[in-house]
Order: sequence, then structure tokens, then C-alpha cells
Amino acid sequence: MRKAVIPVAGLGTRFLPATKATPKEMMPVVDKPAIQYVVEEAAAAGMDDLLFVTGRNKRALEDHFDENHELEAVLARKGSTALLAAARDPASLASIHYVRQGTPRGLGHAVACARIHVGDQPFAVLLGDDLIDPRDYILTRMAQVHERTGGSVIALMAVPPSEISLYGCAAVVPTAEADVVAVTDLVEKPPAGSAPSQYAIIGRYVLTPQVFDVLDQTSPGSGGEIQLTDALRVLAHRPVGSPGAGVTGVVFTGRRYDTGDKQSYLRSVVRIAVDRADLGPPLREYLRELVAGDFDTSHG
Ligand code: UTP
Repeated sequence: MRKAVIPVAGLGTRFLPATKATPKEMMPVVDKPAIQYVVEEAAAAGMDDLLFVTGRNKRALEDHFDENHELEAVLARKGSTALLAAARDPASLASIHYVRQGTPRGLGHAVACARIHVGDQPFAVLLGDDLIDPRDYILTRMAQVHERTGGSVIALMAVPPSEISLYGCAAVVPTAEADVVAVTDLVEKPPAGSAPSQYAIIGRYVLTPQVFDVLDQTSPGSGGEIQLTDALRVLAHRPVGSPGAGVTGVVFTGRRYDTGDKQSYLRSVVRIAVDRADLGPPLREYLRELVAGDFDTSHG
């Protein structure tokens, strides 16, 4: 598996006005746009061919993952080696391609837009606003599980009952491996009190190409959008042995942020920054004093 699809065509309405002219995936998390963390996870799992499914605002993304000769020349002249590497890194992570999703008709529709590029091979999907801490990457583990099962693999995370209605949710049964579950059913944004489990689907998938035929037949579901969860439900219900049958879940227990949500985005910036050797110590001190109420209005 070498190809990954990264949908970034959503409108990002939860983060307006910041996302009016800038894709939410370009919001900085410390000193890198959120999307770069996602691309780095894909590259670390061996994906060297990435397809962005973009919308109106693709320009900033394209520029970020392209070379910038003018900037590089200035940094080279100044001898700024570390900054030069930082400027070059994004373009060197993988071969990056783009396809346009004319109207954002849902995540399932965004994935369907990747069909011609992906072809007839299994592929990964990483949501561009779903940031997994580099110390807790999950895609490599999901690819291992796919190698064994041959079916689709989704990432699941236990969430409190009050939050499950915000996500797709999986009904599961345990397997012999502690972090792996068999998925028996799926439902997108279950109404409060009716969720089949505490397991929410988070933004990492390994899919078999049969999902494309199913997506073609999938009608708009929750929110009037074509839902990837609804297509995966069909594959989960297929009889064992038929093409594309079976969905397996890998349970994630690490650090993960939804950078399209203001609260989660702020946490991602603080948590990643306090753990950085170059920024963390004074920032921790600042936060401690801030929380203790030690500052008056003369402090930034
Ligand atoms: P979200 O539902 O989180 O994105 O989709 P959104 O619609 O941009 O968010 P809000 O609610 O308006 O703030 C999850 C992922 O799927 C992509 C988004 O870009 C995001 O990475 N997506 C969603 C598409 O690419 N196309 C779509 O039609 C919908």
C-alpha cells in the first residue's frame, strides 16, 4: 500500500472567521500547519503517493507542499541551515497530487473523487483536520492489520457518552488482540442514548477499492451528506469471503486532536509546545503562573 487520500475540501465552518479564506488544515500548530503533521504520519507509514481532495482554497496547500526557490535562495545566502531545511521539508515528504471536489457533498463523496487516482489497490485515508501526536502514530499498525485481514480497517477511540453523537460509531466484538476489534455494525452520528458502543471513528482508514462501488450507490445520510460510514457499514455486513467484505477496528489510546474544533485545536498547540525542548520550559512556567492567577494586566 503506497497511496493515501487526504480530504481537505470541507468548509471548516466551526472555525470561522479564521477559515473564511484559509483552509482549516493550514492553521499552525506551533510552527507547522496542521496538515503537515498528517502528511508526516502518512509518510512514516510508507505512503509516498498522496492525493489531496481539495476545495476552493487549495492554493495555500499547494504552495506549502511545493518548492519555493526564492525563499530557499535567501535562506541559503544567509547560511540559515535549519530554516532552509524547514522550508524544504514539506516538498520532500511524498509525491503530492490534487483532485477537486466541486461541491463538498460529504466525506464519502470526497473519497469517491479519488477513484481514478487510486485505481484497484487498497489505500489509506487520513482526514486533514485530525492530528495524531507523532509519538502515537496509528496508521502503520492499521496497515499491519489490513495485511492480515485483507479487509478495511478503521481507527476507533473510546469517547464519553455525551460526545458519541458527534462521530460515526462502531458496534464491535473483541478479538484475540487487545487493540483490535471486529466491527459488526456502524452508524453515523447516533442520536444520544442509542449509540451501539463508546467507540468513535477517528480520521484514519485503510480501505479496499470495493468501497468505490459502494460509495456510488450510497445516498446522502446524516446531515444530507454522503457518509463514508454508511459505505463501510455495507462492507461490514457483506458475507465473509465476498469482495471487500469485513471491517476491523484498531483501538487508539494516544494523543489526538480535531484541529477543526476550537477547543481541541488550542489543546494541540499547548500540549505539543510544552513538550518541545526549544519552547516547553518557559511556556510551562508561564502557564503555571497564569493558572495560579499571578499575572496582572502588565503581562502578555
Ligand atoms: P468535517 O465535517 O470535520 O469538516 O469533515 P467540515 O465540514 O469542514 O467541518 P465544519 O463542521 O464545517 O467545521 C471531516 C474531514 O472531511 C473533509 C474535511 O475537509 C475534513 O478533513 N471533507 C468533509 C471533505 O473533504 N469534503 C466534504 O464534503 C466534507
